[in-house]
Amino acid sequence: MNTTPPRSNKTYYLYTFGCQMNEHDTEVLAGMLESLGYLPAANPREADLIVINTCAVRQKPEQKVAALLGKLKPLKQQNPDLMIAVGGCMAQQEEMSAALAKRFGYIDLIFGTHALPYFPRLLEQARARRRPLVETGEYPDRRPELPIRRASRFKAWLPVIYGCNNYCSYCIVPYVRGRERSRPRSEIISEATALAQEGYVELTLLGQNVNSYGLDLPGPEGFGDLLLDLDLIEGISRIRFLTSHPKDLSTRLIEAVRDADRVCEHFHLPVQSGSNRLLEAMNRQYTRERYLELIGEIKQDIPGVAITTDIIVGYPGETEHDFYQTLDLVERARFDNAFIFLYSPRKGTRAAEMKDNLSLAEKKRRLQEISRVQNKISLEINRTLINTTAEVLVEGASKRNPQMQSGRTRSNKLVHFPSGEDLSGKLVEVPIVGAYTWHLIGETPGV
Ligand code: 5AD
Ligand code: SF4
Repeated sequence: MNTTPPRSNKTYYLYTFGCQMNEHDTEVLAGMLESLGYLPAANPREADLIVINTCAVRQKPEQKVAALLGKLKPLKQQNPDLMIAVGGCMAQQEEMSAALAKRFGYIDLIFGTHALPYFPRLLEQARARRRPLVETGEYPDRRPELPIRRASRFKAWLPVIYGCNNYCSYCIVPYVRGRERSRPRSEIISEATALAQEGYVELTLLGQNVNSYGLDLPGPEGFGDLLLDLDLIEGISRIRFLTSHPKDLSTRLIEAVRDADRVCEHFHLPVQSGSNRLLEAMNRQYTRERYLELIGEIKQDIPGVAITTDIIVGYPGETEHDFYQTLDLVERARFDNAFIFLYSPRKGTRAAEMKDNLSLAEKKRRLQEISRVQNKISLEINRTLINTTAEVLVEGASKRNPQMQSGRTRSNKLVHFPSGEDLSGKLVEVPIVGAYTWHLIGETPGV
């Protein structure tokens, strides 16, 4: 049987919004399209197919998608053969998909996150129609058999668990990504081994909550055990993981990060709020005391560890006192970095039913104040790294200055250092000589 797909000589252009899981889904899409014979287009005007991979976690990325679809309309009018597909978390919601199909009738295909592995077939079906084909059903998971087209030659995303069971009150993710499904250990290990053989040196394990990994598989092994297994793969220098939920982070995992040489010393551990009252309302299932105890344990066990977090400001009913509790937690926790978001009501979630009577101006003021405190702490922590040497995985020339190379430390800090050489994909030891809030400055590494 001839398994080579027919060449199409067509071109594609992809847009991605949202998290790392979405970036990886886009790599899967690109791989599928290239297997069908599509080639990447230099810009959307030259493409025969445009796919938008959407995010539904806050309102802003949704508004960006609507604006983008508006901008693409003239392209479709100029070229009726152009196909436009919308996938991802916005597309998984029935009501939203129906609204998109109505408002932007020139979309050819709307497909949810569950339909991703079946995209080539849906694309073919959509081609034969005049109206948008909308697919928001639940399909069985299937790791694509077609090769993935990865954005980097040396860093790879590796999903280990899909979905989320937690139902935090504000979050749309459990509704659009479904229940937790761990990938079989053997499948992850073979994919990691193949990546190492292809020359990848850094793996980032992905999951909405990696700490639940294995709970739905037979056997007692959890995420910590998976890290220890992956640590044995020859050729991989760094293993990262995202995201951890504080309620499930076990001592066993902290020990695995400490003991596994290739696993990087970094936890992304979203706290969301420092107020016990709001943590309860958010259904986070831990207290501020427990959270602080946990990061105390991590910092004590793992020298040089970096801890980053997510914070939501302006949750419905957030009082001045709740806000100060969060500010106080930020001061005590001393995060390396925090991503601070204004609360955004998501239709279908419990929090969206609650009364929200805080003004936008007040929410923004609170966000500014937390940022100010966090920025000061980030800078203080970064300054302690001056006169140390950091292992940096180089990504390539700095965007602003081609005389500088940029990369990340094991603790995920951005470092710029002077070098005329293209060191991308290499691990180098960089003496740190300067520190800013968002990055470090190094000297040219000795060879
Ligand atoms: N509003 C604001 N931020 C949100 N997040 C998730 N849902 C919302 C929402 N409705 C944030 C959380 C999460 C991060 C990925 O996005 O902080 O950790
Ligand atoms: Fe959303 Fe909570 Fe699941 Fe994270 S753990 S994806 S915040 S429901």
